[in-house]
Order: sequence, then structure tokens, then C-alpha cells
Amino acid sequence: MTVSAIPLSARVGRIKPSPSMVARLRAQELKAQGRDIIDLTTGEPDFDTPAHIREATTAAMAAGETRYAPVNGTLRLRKAIIAKFARENGVTYAADEIVVGSGAKQVIFNALAATIGEGDEVIVPAPYWVSYPDMVLACDGTPVIVACGENAGFKLTAETLEAAITPRTRWLLLNTPSNPTGAFYSADEMTALTEVLKRHPHVALMTDDIYEHIRFDGGEPVCPVAIAPELRERTLLVNGVSKTYAMTGFRIGYGAGPKALVNAINIIQSQTTSGAASMCMAAAAAALEGDQSFVGEARSAYRQRRDRAVELLDAIDGMSCRKPDGAFYVYPSCTGLIGRRRPDGWVLQSDLDVALYLLEDAGVAVLDGSAYGLSPYLRLSIATSLGAIEEACARIKMACDALQRS
Ligand SMILES: Cc1ncc(COP(=O)(O)O)c(C=O)c1O
Repeated sequence: MTVSAIPLSARVGRIKPSPSMVARLRAQELKAQGRDIIDLTTGEPDFDTPAHIREATTAAMAAGETRYAPVNGTLRLRKAIIAKFARENGVTYAADEIVVGSGAKQVIFNALAATIGEGDEVIVPAPYWVSYPDMVLACDGTPVIVACGENAGFKLTAETLEAAITPRTRWLLLNTPSNPTGAFYSADEMTALTEVLKRHPHVALMTDDIYEHIRFDGGEPVCPVAIAPELRERTLLVNGVSKTYAMTGFRIGYGAGPKALVNAINIIQSQTTSGAASMCMAAAAAALEGDQSFVGEARSAYRQRRDRAVELLDAIDGMSCRKPDGAFYVYPSCTGLIGRRRPDGWVLQSDLDVALYLLEDAGVAVLDGSAYGLSPYLRLSIATSLGAIEEACARIKMACDALQRS
């Protein structure tokens, strides 16, 4: 065992690398060995960034936008964000209530770093995006994981929220539509949660709406600040351009919240990464201000893929797949496969075992539900072609059919 000459911090000991990165690396290793692997672990759109956004990036560079930019984001981008919140979410923010970071991930992290410390609790409904608990731990806080089972539509209810709140609760972190389940909180469901929060003034709300535009019911956006303006002063709305406009590599995320919080986030950012990349902010502004037709086209493609993936997975003996409301993942239960015997005699005991079996035997890389805090499930990304989804599901079916009941 190699021992590092540089002792590592307790902080790094508390957190683990993102499991999706670990799984993706394993899939890449097998690919490098010549195995034919269909990779359904990726959490990013498979579409190219729309041409007008790419052109805006090069135009910005040609115009000299290659230098340090303001820590809180360029005024043009902040104005575009303000206009987006007004147009799409029915909420009004001023330029000094907007924060811009290198990805929504950085905004969430900085918000936690700016507000929590030892003993502070953050409510994280499970299944959750893998980074939330680790970010809370990295900021010395305590993630309070609340199991939201399939019967509850994988969603927090007023009752489960109420039961999770303690005097140490600082935040409720809500992701809608959710990664990994695609669950979306309707206006009624959001109203019920805001009613609970109104009774607990020490609890702030952070919503991660990064999949806001990948929703299949055609309904209106649901914004807690529009529903309960009383919560505006203790809510941070987090969003970004990564998923909506296929701009993951640009690393631009943003948030809207009370000025004091935004200031604190900017202080953290000023002493760590400074402002986001200048030309990427120009690109993000062009995305928010420009032609939105890509958003609807991508949504239709994801809808078609979701329908097909759900149909094929749900027909597999041992699996059942609920139809997600949004995002680009499906989260089938593999309860029926647990206890079955692989052709080599090994008995599947967990969703991780199932994921490994599918990778090794079927050449399909998926993620295990345990990484997302609710087992036994699998997370499959549908941000890939319909053909790849159909081929992957056919391989999964064949591998599942080859299992023996013990
Ligand atoms: C729920 C959720 N929030 C945030 C992010 C990261 O967004 P960004 O690329 O803006 O950092 C992801 C990416 O997978 C995600 O799934």
C-alpha cells in the first residue's frame, strides 16, 4: 500500500468520489480492453450544443471576452437570468440577488459552504443526486437522508418533511425533476411542503431545478417562491444551462436568492475560483436570450426514449419500471432479480451485484440504486440514441433470462 507523504484532511476522508465517475471509468476500462460496452451511466445530453450558442462563444472570444470576469457574473448574463426567472417562473429578482458559478454544482457547494458548519443538518430526500450528501459532509454538516419510496412516487411528503425537521435543520435540498428518479413535485405537492416550511422559520429551501425543461407532462413550471412568496428570503433557486442547452462542458450554473446569501456565496467564490469563464458566460447568455427551439426538440427525443425504455424494461421478468415525469434517466426496481443465481453460480444479493452482472455479462453499464440512497434499483441514462437503448434493453433481458431462481 502506498502511503501519501502528504497527510490528507479529515474532510477528504469523509467524502467519496462520485460513483457515476467510478462506474464510467470501469466501463471505459472494459471498452479499452476491446469489450463492446453500451454505456448508460452518463448524466449529460448526447446532443451537440446548438450552433448559435457555439457561435456566440467564438464571437465573444473574438470580441476580447477572454479575461477575468466579475465574480458574481457578467451583467449581461445576470440580466438574462433575471429575465428567465420572470418569464418562466413568475418571480422577480434584482441583479444583486443573482449568483453565477462554474456549474450548478459549484453554486450548491458554495451555498452550503457559506451557511453550514458542524452539527448543522441538511434534509436530503432519497433517492438523491449522489453529490448532495458528500457536499454536506465536505462542508462539515450532517446530511439527514429521508427515504422516499416508490409508493410515495419517490417524493417527500409534508408528513415525512415535518418528521425530519429538528432544531439543527438548516436546509431542505429539493431536486425536481429528480436525478435519478425523474420525480417532479406538482404545484399541490410543492404547496404542501412550503406550508411545512412556513411553520419552521429556521429552515431554508434550496431547489435544484437543473432538469426543469426536461419534463414530459407539458405542465407549467412549479416555483416555490411563486407559490409561497413568504419563503423568498430563505430560498435559493439553483439552475444552470448544462442539461437544458447541452452545455455541460461550459460549466455555467446560477442561482437566485436573498442578497445576503448571494454576497456570502460570492465571497467564497472570490477566494476560490473567481468568476466563471468569460466566453462561457457569453454563451450562457446567448442560450437564455436566444431561440429556444432546441429545448422542445430535445424534450421530444427524451420523451420517446423514456417511453421505449420503460416499455422494454418493465417487460423484463424481475424488473419493474415506473414512468419518470422528467430528466433523462429511468430508475427500474430490480427487486425480483435479487436472490437469483448467475450462470457461474453466484447469487445476486444487491443492486450493485446486478449492475456488475449486467456490465460483465451483458456489456451494459448502469448504476446501482445504492449510490442514490434507495435500493434495490438501477439508474439508466437515456441520454443516448433510441437504437442504443433498444440494444441495451435486449441485452439486459437476455442476461436476466439467463439467471436461475434459487
Ligand atoms: C441534480 C443535478 N444537479 C446538478 C448537476 C450538475 O449541474 P452542472 O453541470 O450545472 O454543475 C447535475 C449533473 O449531473 C445533476 O444531476
